[in-house]
Amino acid sequence: MSRKRVGVLISGRGSNMAALIEAAKAPDYPAEIALVVSNKPGAGGLATAEANGITTATVDHRAFKGDREAFERAVHAELEGHRVDIVCLAGFMRIFTPWFPGQWEGRMINIHPSLLPAYKGLDTHARALADGAKVHGATVHFVVPDLDAGPVILQEEVPVLEGDTPETLARRVLEAEHRIYPAALRMIATEYRLV
Ligand code: GRF
Repeated sequence: MSRKRVGVLISGRGSNMAALIEAAKAPDYPAEIALVVSNKPGAGGLATAEANGITTATVDHRAFKGDREAFERAVHAELEGHRVDIVCLAGFMRIFTPWFPGQWEGRMINIHPSLLPAYKGLDTHARALADGAKVHGATVHFVVPDLDAGPVILQEEVPVLEGDTPETLARRVLEAEHRIYPAALRMIATEYRLV
């Protein structure tokens, strides 16, 4: 079995990245984490990746002075340089120009903390609570140029409990994220064919 080479893009603590790293330790997992890229120097997830022996790179968006496509081209060069087949966004807090998703169409996925198409964007847990939602959850989807809009691969529902705060709800949803992200990557890595 040839394992697909995965690049994970992060901006922060990287708990979803860590879930992918753990899953990829299984000998029958169809993907390996080849590279972790952060746009934030010192992001917590970088240390976790390095502790697992994974190559990391930092491409600081601030160095590109607002030229978003130039930033994306630098990230893309890292991914190409490490022969990445599939990109996983894991708490990557930059909005793309159409160029980057265009390069990775059908080969880039994201984890989002809501049941899309509900609650695209930020502060999903607070917004779900404010609406009195009884069911919330997490989604893995393909990335397209529109934010949080691509085809859904996997979702898991999470109940909203009496007395939940955005923090308690976020913790429960994060546990679901850590289940469905490795499962979705397994699916994509298995079905995925180079065009
Ligand atoms: C997760 O809730 C993810 O769904 C969202 O950003 C958060 C990242 O958390 N896109 P982590 O860095 O993976 O711990």
